[in-house]
Amino acid sequence: MTAIKGSVVLVTGGSRGVGKALVEGLYARGAGKVYATARDPRTVAHPDAVPLALEVTDPASVAAVAEQAQDVTVLINNAGVATGTRFLTSSLDEIRHEFEINFYGPLLVARAFVPVIERNGGGHILNVHSVLSWFAEGGAYSASKSALWSQTNSLRLALQSRGIGVTGLHMGYVDTDMTAGVDGPKAKAEDIAAAALDGIESDAYEVLADDITRWAKGALSGDLAAMYQQLAG
Ligand SMILES: NC(=O)c1ccc[n+]([C@@H]2O[C@H](COP(=O)([O-])OP(=O)(O)OC[C@H]3O[C@@H](n4cnc5c(N)ncnc54)[C@H](OP(=O)(O)O)[C@@H]3O)[C@@H](O)[C@H]2O)c1
Repeated sequence: MTAIKGSVVLVTGGSRGVGKALVEGLYARGAGKVYATARDPRTVAHPDAVPLALEVTDPASVAAVAEQAQDVTVLINNAGVATGTRFLTSSLDEIRHEFEINFYGPLLVARAFVPVIERNGGGHILNVHSVLSWFAEGGAYSASKSALWSQTNSLRLALQSRGIGVTGLHMGYVDTDMTAGVDGPKAKAEDIAAAALDGIESDAYEVLADDITRWAKGALSGDLAAMYQQLAG
């Protein structure tokens, strides 16, 4: 079990949206120290958080953050983008960019922090996926989050014997900058953060934070035409 009370946590993308809610939730549960990263660390407003500059696509930036946060026991890979990139109309560079941030970014950060967490006696990694890991309506975003889901599953197996638990977080729309242009129901970032932190504390393999996510996971085992109504003849 990973207790949040007294833990030292690093949250990527911790200055806004889900990441900001995670930082607030961590301190509310008694975390000892929370590093909150942003590309511009001056945007980290939480009075107790330790701001760090991080660009997840830049190996030197990731290495510098790991160097400065040697006491981390819990890593939350939250940073991500949804650029609306489409397979048939966007450039390959745009598609690759989505993967650089959503797939390779968390991988670089995990590779940098696994030895740190291990040296500190073990701990936890939580990767932020999406309902779109399981539902291909999001083009390259869906594919990048699907690939991240698989990466998380592999890391869980690889880290089981090394004292590091791994949780994947899945959710539908959350009310953040990312969904500013979306109409319709959205979860509150603080509710998603609470579900994520419950998942860490209970060593859950996965957190399915809302109804649409639970539906999507169940639908994966059914006929594809039931999941994608466009396919129903
Ligand atoms: N909102 C939703 O409906 C929703 C649903 C499912 C999953 N998610 C996932 O939840 C996570 C958080 O999203 P959000 O809704 O809070 O989005 P957001 O408000 O747009 O925030 C995105 C965060 O990612 C960081 N980030 C983006 N590109 C980065 C890069 N290249 N290097 C370092 N940090 C970078 C941003 O940091 P800066 O402050 O430096 O820009 C920001 O903190 C993402 O992984 C997203 O895919 C969101």
